[in-house]
Amino acid sequence: MEKIQQAVERARQQRASLGGQVDAPARPSRPSANTAGASGGLAAALQQARVFEPSTQHLRENRILAGATDDVRSDVFRKLRTQAMLRLQTLGGRSLMVVSARDGEGKTLVACNLAFGIAHQTAAPTFLLDMDFRRPSVHRTFGLEPEVSLTDVIEGRATVEEVLVRIADSQLYVLPQARKSEHASEIVASQAARTLIQNLANGVPSAKLVIDCPPLLLTDEPLVVQGYVDGCLLVVEQGRTSRDDVERSAEYLDEAKYLGSVLNRVVESEGSTYYGYR
Ligand SMILES: Nc1ncnc2c1ncn2[C@@H]1O[C@H](COP(=O)(O)OP(=O)(O)O)[C@@H](O)[C@H]1O
Ligand SMILES: [Mg+2]
Repeated sequence: MEKIQQAVERARQQRASLGGQVDAPARPSRPSANTAGASGGLAAALQQARVFEPSTQHLRENRILAGATDDVRSDVFRKLRTQAMLRLQTLGGRSLMVVSARDGEGKTLVACNLAFGIAHQTAAPTFLLDMDFRRPSVHRTFGLEPEVSLTDVIEGRATVEEVLVRIADSQLYVLPQARKSEHASEIVASQAARTLIQNLANGVPSAKLVIDCPPLLLTDEPLVVQGYVDGCLLVVEQGRTSRDDVERSAEYLDEAKYLGSVLNRVVESEGSTYYGYR
């Protein structure tokens, strides 16, 4: 508890100090992390992105249903996508993060389905960033085996075009994370991370950005990421996330950016699990 409080306080301080730099010109600590920021750079990076075609079976097994038209659960994701996008639009925003109180509550699943759903709806690129550097799993969800990770770009070891993977037949661009990082907090709080997110969100007209985050009550990264994005979705797992955790999570979230909560594993008839949005 005390550890969390200290982490939150640290994050708040980081957020406050970062907050003062919002309007400063983008100036990354390492130039390569900013490749996408150069004029025309992001458009060129998109052209060069590796294309990956996940198997339909793998997507199904991992409950990525946003693209499926023959599964009743995909309707729920379409609804979630539409509602979340409408709220983001009301805020005039392009980027959102997906969080929950703890691990295993469905953040990654929601982030992947939401990003895929948005990408199917719009002709503009949708970026999906795996920023759970402690337990990255977006790559496994799609069946990717990336050689280059998002932290390589942020830390200046690789360029944006080297990490981008476009999911075939869609405008979904994944920025995967293949390995755990020991320095998740510092990497997320770096100026290079902030600049990269700003450049992705603003480098192409109408682009959208979805960030998969680590747990809100166990790490300080989500509070820092919240300073970078326009909206925030809270995932709550039915029968698992306690009321206390939800209340504490809500305290950490910026009300002005709150897009709503996704109720995961709502048990419907026939034992199927569905999502709800409120
Ligand atoms: N509604 C659901 N129905 C069935 N399995 C689910 C559901 N939501 C999540 N899972 C599974 O639970 C595990 C944890 O979900 P995940 O999205 O990785 O959580 P988090 O990112 O919050 O740690 C994964 O194996 C995922 O496939
Ligand atoms: Mg996850």
